[in-house]
Amino acid sequence: MERFYWGAATSSHQIEGGNDNDWTAWEKTHAKRLAQSARRTTWPEFILKNYPSPLEPENYISGKACDHYRRFREDFDIAKSLGHNAHRFSLEWSRIEPEEGKFNEQEIEHYREVIRALRERNLEPFVTLWHWTVPRWFAERGGWLCSDAGRLFARFAARMAHEFGRDVRWWLTMNELETFARHGYFLGDRPPGRTNPFAAYRALKALVGAHRAAYDAMKEVSPSLAVGFTESVVDFEPYGRSPHNLLAMKAIRWWRNDPFFGALVRSADFIGLQHYFHSRIRLNPFLSAWGIQYNENKEVSDVGWEIHPESIYRVLKELARYGKPIVVTENGLADARDVHRTRYINDHVGWMARAKREGVDVRGYFYWSLLDNFEWQSGFWPRFGLVKIDYRTLQRTVRPSAWQYKKLIERGM
Ligand code: BGC
Repeated sequence: MERFYWGAATSSHQIEGGNDNDWTAWEKTHAKRLAQSARRTTWPEFILKNYPSPLEPENYISGKACDHYRRFREDFDIAKSLGHNAHRFSLEWSRIEPEEGKFNEQEIEHYREVIRALRERNLEPFVTLWHWTVPRWFAERGGWLCSDAGRLFARFAARMAHEFGRDVRWWLTMNELETFARHGYFLGDRPPGRTNPFAAYRALKALVGAHRAAYDAMKEVSPSLAVGFTESVVDFEPYGRSPHNLLAMKAIRWWRNDPFFGALVRSADFIGLQHYFHSRIRLNPFLSAWGIQYNENKEVSDVGWEIHPESIYRVLKELARYGKPIVVTENGLADARDVHRTRYINDHVGWMARAKREGVDVRGYFYWSLLDNFEWQSGFWPRFGLVKIDYRTLQRTVRPSAWQYKKLIERGM
């Protein structure tokens, strides 16, 4: 029987530091505005006392981030000491192909070192090819809406399979395609900052096409690779029994969890499940910005997301219908004081174990995230890490919950 994979996940732009991609450009344009609009919120003291605070523009600029690009060995030592046997990270496309069609050998060598460092510590690498950032040349050509986006991404994917296919078995082409399309093309709060639902739909369609092209290209290089993708799957339910809530729930669930999912799965050897959300859908325009989500559970993370562990069981059962292995590639919470994290992980893993006992083919669990990191348009203040980062000194401190997670790993499933 294959071993169960336990670890934590990260992504290049959120931790490496020193990147130069479409996000870097976007951050510089929006940092001041984001800091100013944060002044309209009342923040708890435990958030404001950390550096950088949401009220400061530097919070919104990734800059040197955790300097993981240079400190990856130290970080993998920590993961090892925490009992992990696997690690998920992403390759930074903009480093590897800084100019169209020109691959940077030094950067390829860097990631070869990263993979070697994982192997030396018996950490099984799970590699994501695209975690939301793209090279500037790709953005300038129109990003995912440019007519040959699929071909360009597949070329990068094939090259990576060729370079690292002997050392990496588990691959994820793309991270949360729907989340990316919704924020970047409909909500407009992430690059490329568009607010057009039709563009969001077209972007999602293009991303699915790019995933499928990358899948085929990688399998051509090496049929033995396990190639998947990740999606955020939300546990939706209607609020009460009224038919309009049920209808609204069905429509929202369709958009968030279903369109194109089948097409993605058809070109995948496994599913990467990212799970963060539970939503009760209630059509009431006065309840929230969207007027549709209503959670009674008052236990929330620092970013206000409801803590509802049973949801992971429900979405795992839902995904079992595809008949493919599932890896939980992300699940976690922002909790600067580390007051909820131990129970959060225990409870989610408990519900995941129950789904597994009932026959769902779950192969691994990756907590998001190994380190505190750059949480996209929210910047540095949300603290998702098993390991705390002091962004002034870059000192790493393991949080108590990380040791509890280690105990859980040792007990096994
Ligand atoms: C993304 C991560 C992000 C996390 C928490 C996931 O959807 O893949 O990059 O940091 O959610 O928001």
